Amino acid sequence: MSRTVVATAYGGPEVLEVIDQDVPPPGPGEVVVEMRAIGVNPIDYKLYSGAFGTDPAALPVRLGTEGAGVVLGVGAGTDPIRVGDEVIVYAGEGAYSDVVLAEADAVLPKPDSMSWESAACLLSSGGTAYEALEVAGVVEGDTVVIQGAAGGVGELAVQLVVGRGAVAIGVAWPVHHDFLRTLGAVPVLPGPDLAARIREVAPDGVDAVVDTVGTDEVIDQSLALGAERDRIVTTIAFARAARDGFAAIGGPNEDSARIRREARPLLVDMAAHGGLDVVVGTRFPLADAAEAHRTLQQPHARGKLVLLP
Ligand SMILES: NC(=O)c1ccc[n+]([C@@H]2O[C@H](COP(=O)([O-])OP(=O)(O)OC[C@H]3O[C@@H](n4cnc5c(N)ncnc54)[C@H](OP(=O)(O)O)[C@@H]3O)[C@@H](O)[C@H]2O)c1
Repeated sequence: MSRTVVATAYGGPEVLEVIDQDVPPPGPGEVVVEMRAIGVNPIDYKLYSGAFGTDPAALPVRLGTEGAGVVLGVGAGTDPIRVGDEVIVYAGEGAYSDVVLAEADAVLPKPDSMSWESAACLLSSGGTAYEALEVAGVVEGDTVVIQGAAGGVGELAVQLVVGRGAVAIGVAWPVHHDFLRTLGAVPVLPGPDLAARIREVAPDGVDAVVDTVGTDEVIDQSLALGAERDRIVTTIAFARAARDGFAAIGGPNEDSARIRREARPLLVDMAAHGGLDVVVGTRFPLADAAEAHRTLQQPHARGKLVLLP
């Protein structure tokens, strides 16, 4: 039996409920994981907010893509995973639960050096940031602007850009600037005249832009920075990307799935060896997922939110 958070209707966080569910024994290629920490991401809220439609047949909506925990059971063909292993789970859906049934290939060993919380929050934002850099072709010596640099995806994108030997210009509110400097970014204030502020810190120009904000204002500013369209990537403004000829990542796309799958062990390895730091913010009991989702929508919060079963 598991305790699982689902959305029983479309709406605000008040539609979230904790339900009891049977967990079937793991079949071939499956493992059962007792979760220690669960990562919270904006998509979890968008799934029931109506942002992706309000199909009654999709209710109740299972939430949560990622977490970390201890293997409770293994099905056939899941070597080398063993009962008792500490793992990171990239579940795809349904991770808001104290016990999760997952595909064995969605599970990676959790390094001892990573906390449960940071391990639970690495792969969704990290995979997105990694794909953004791959699509934008970021290499050593580039100058890269990251819009929303202090957010979950942004702070990992900053670190990956710096890790590739490129210059990261992080666009973020002043409250985040000292933090961004500690990551090796050059912080810049958002708003009108952004291009002039960026020219001051990057007089030789900008090679690529990663957008995690997606407003028309931010997209217009991103397009005006001088990077080629095929080196501008958004995680959110899909309609603008289609209209203006730049890249949008994520969604059901084989290339995206492959890049993120390949990224997962690399990201875990980097995090294990100090090359990537997942900033963890507020922790909530699993049963308080609605409160976590209210907090998710507050401005200026920093650090990934975590649910603890
Ligand atoms: N396509 C995909 O595969 C994929 C994957 C992951 C995420 N996403 C999407 O990408 C977006 C970002 O995700 P996230 O997890 O990084 O969210 P997040 O943690 O909320 O980060 C967004 C950041 O943008 C900042 N921001 C807002 N307006 C800004 C502006 N005008 N200029 C500069 N910064 C600004 C916010 O700062 P304040 O809070 O201080 O305002 C916040 O730090 C979300 O819409 C999410 O759904 C897409």
